[in-house]
Amino acid sequence: MTTAVRYYSRSGNTKAVAEAIAEAAGVQAISVDAADAAINEPVDVLFLGGALYKYGIDDHMKAYLETLNKEMVGKVAVFSTSWFSKHAIDLIKNGAAEKGIEVVSDSLYVRGKPNDAQKAKAAEFAKKNI
Ligand SMILES: Cc1cc2nc3c(=O)[nH]c(=O)nc-3n(C[C@H](O)[C@H](O)[C@H](O)COP(=O)(O)O)c2cc1C
Repeated sequence: MTTAVRYYSRSGNTKAVAEAIAEAAGVQAISVDAADAAINEPVDVLFLGGALYKYGIDDHMKAYLETLNKEMVGKVAVFSTSWFSKHAIDLIKNGAAEKGIEVVSDSLYVRGKPNDAQKAKAAEFAKKNI
């Protein structure tokens, strides 16, 4: 199984979840606006996470979703943080599905900054989906 972890995080909460997933998966978590964020080699699972800002996902995440290619990504597993709404999960799932990519029905949500127990859950989420 090849795995990649991509995220967009303005204040670090989603980044912390991404890093817990990435550590469990044995890969690096890369921000979607980083120079090496594109998936140029096929991966079986892409863990993709973002937060909700004013009821929407950040433009960086929207743009990244547009770049995804179903030939390169077997399936997408989504994670998110926010104050209370899980809506970003649906928005990211829909973006991947619109590109014809299989989306894992299971997802991971953390309210705000993950604590150690939530990071452990993120690691479990990673292991379950790779
Ligand atoms: C400008 C702004 C708007 C936000 N809007 C929402 C919102 O509509 N619903 C919500 O549940 N959380 C909202 N949040 C909370 C963020 O989703 C939450 O802090 C999230 O964990 C931030 O993730 P990040 O640290 O990865 O950027 C908002 C935060 C900011 C800064």
